Amino acid sequence: MMTNTPVTAVGDEITVLYGTETGNGMRVSKRLWQQLEAAGLHARWLNTGKYRLPELSRERCLLVAISTYDDEQPPEDALGFMGFLMSSKAPRLLQLRYGVLALGATCYSAFCTVGLTLDARLAELGATRLVHVGLCDTEFERVAAPWIANTTRVVSETLGAGSHD
Ligand SMILES: Cc1cc2nc3c(=O)[nH]c(=O)nc-3n(C[C@H](O)[C@H](O)[C@H](O)COP(=O)(O)O)c2cc1C
Repeated sequence: MMTNTPVTAVGDEITVLYGTETGNGMRVSKRLWQQLEAAGLHARWLNTGKYRLPELSRERCLLVAISTYDDEQPPEDALGFMGFLMSSKAPRLLQLRYGVLALGATCYSAFCTVGLTLDARLAELGATRLVHVGLCDTEFERVAAPWIANTTRVVSETLGAGSHD
């Protein structure tokens, strides 16, 4: 399991999360976080396993990179996060804007299922999808790079103006 130290606290405008087994999700989400910061936005970047679930109801903008494993399972470090979100304990998220980057491989029939499930669940909880879910195959950069660029642009346009209220 790969982890990192949260860089800032809840209350920042944007939270970038990743759930990963072999580090792909960590690498792409780190780049997303860096590009958001380079665009002048205030974001924090952390592992789903380090995320405090009660903070979800206070999030304004959540961007998640998450992979899929056997039997449509999340990576181990995202089990708690996904379990909570899929449960009846998950809060309504009407204030939340979000985007999901799903990592997987087309050789599996359950291609990117966890990311797709997360994307659908956040919408079901009332959150607003900012960007279409990105579906990454083995050569994940092909989808991740343009998804990161587009997400940075959309988040900048959406949060940029009134983000320091
Ligand atoms: C044992 C194993 C099982 C996997 N199962 C699936 C799967 O069911 N569906 C899928 O889309 N990808 C599956 N993958 C592909 C991974 O999700 C993909 O390699 C992803 O980029 C890993 O990202 P991570 O390093 O952030 O965990 C599997 C990979 C491995 C090694």
